[in-house]
Amino acid sequence: MAIAQKIGGFIESSSWIRKMFEEGARLKSIHGNDNVYDFSLGNPSIEPPGEFRRYLKSIVENASPGVHAYMPNTGYPHVRKAVADFVNDEQNLAAGEEDVIMTCGAAGGLNIILKAITDADDEIITPAPYFVEYGFYADNHGGRLITVPSGEDFNLDIEAIEKAISPKIKAVLINSPNNPTGRVYPEEILMRLGDLLRKKSLETGRTIYLISDEPYRKITYDGIRVPSVLRCYPNSLMATSYSKDLSIPGERIGYVIVCPEAEDKGLLLQALALANRILGYVNAPALMQRVVGGLQGVHVDVSEYARKREMLCDGLSDFGYRFVKPEGAFYLFPQSPVADEVAFVNALQEERILAVPGSGFGAPGYFRLSFCVDDRVISDSLPGFGRALRKFT
Ligand SMILES: Cc1ncc(COP(=O)(O)O)c(C=O)c1O
Repeated sequence: MAIAQKIGGFIESSSWIRKMFEEGARLKSIHGNDNVYDFSLGNPSIEPPGEFRRYLKSIVENASPGVHAYMPNTGYPHVRKAVADFVNDEQNLAAGEEDVIMTCGAAGGLNIILKAITDADDEIITPAPYFVEYGFYADNHGGRLITVPSGEDFNLDIEAIEKAISPKIKAVLINSPNNPTGRVYPEEILMRLGDLLRKKSLETGRTIYLISDEPYRKITYDGIRVPSVLRCYPNSLMATSYSKDLSIPGERIGYVIVCPEAEDKGLLLQALALANRILGYVNAPALMQRVVGGLQGVHVDVSEYARKREMLCDGLSDFGYRFVKPEGAFYLFPQSPVADEVAFVNALQEERILAVPGSGFGAPGYFRLSFCVDDRVISDSLPGFGRALRKFT
């Protein structure tokens, strides 16, 4: 085999994603796109807000010389200042523009953080269910992802995290609002996590970082607000993006913000800037930096996702599906009526419904539905959800 053995293994271990994709394509070719109910992708169904296109247009029309040139690896200073001002206001912080690094989405942000802090065999702890790319990201930088179970209703289980901490710990990686559960971790539990990491940093003699992956931060329901991780623990970093809240995932724009009180912050920031450069991103896309710099606080109409959430949750609970109602993001993570959730996902496919098995998120026995789809997909698919469940109950 000419490709690296490790990548060959990754292709093999994630082959179920390919199989699902192929099965979806097969069903669509037979029944037509409109007759297959695809809940498998986290691609926002809502178009970007009008302000996005207007502002983009005005920036392109008023371009001055040099606008397409390289800039500092961390991004344009005026954009980083706009981001820092917004986050300070939102989270009651005192971050400066130097604490912000513009990145290629949240994924780029997570990779520069892991590149900056990970030594060979360092352990990164994350609660399951988790975003499946985390394992690959940790591996990209020589680290190992260690998963721990979540607590009741997918909340953080602080005791489970404590038990998993070994002398090789480098970071705890959390995601709130969570993909795939929709859970938003409450402040009280983040404070407890912060206390644990302070204690364990002293015990192990290592700085343990808390990394919070928050691309869904602005997509929450019922007035829930995502608490500030940066206020709960000094050695913390938040990675986020505009992929979901401005519906522009293809544009690859986001940022990392470092807690203003982080230890050795100057060195950490230098490491992040270098990682952005040498991972090949060089800098976040210039045009998109300038656009988001002027659109702080603008986001899609979350009430649209709230309506889709109600439609899907009401429809599924009427049939007897069991799930925790999501507090944020646009995913529902119901229990499978049988332990082998792949068998159930196959039964859904017979109804032309595409879902993702929980095993793909380290949580067998569940399946994920992305409700960032047209309302019609939800309403037309509901009878099929009913029929599939009846086969197993
Ligand atoms: C939990 C989580 N983290 C990170 C990402 C990557 O986001 P981005 O497109 O901003 O890189 C996603 C995308 O779906 C996600 O669900």
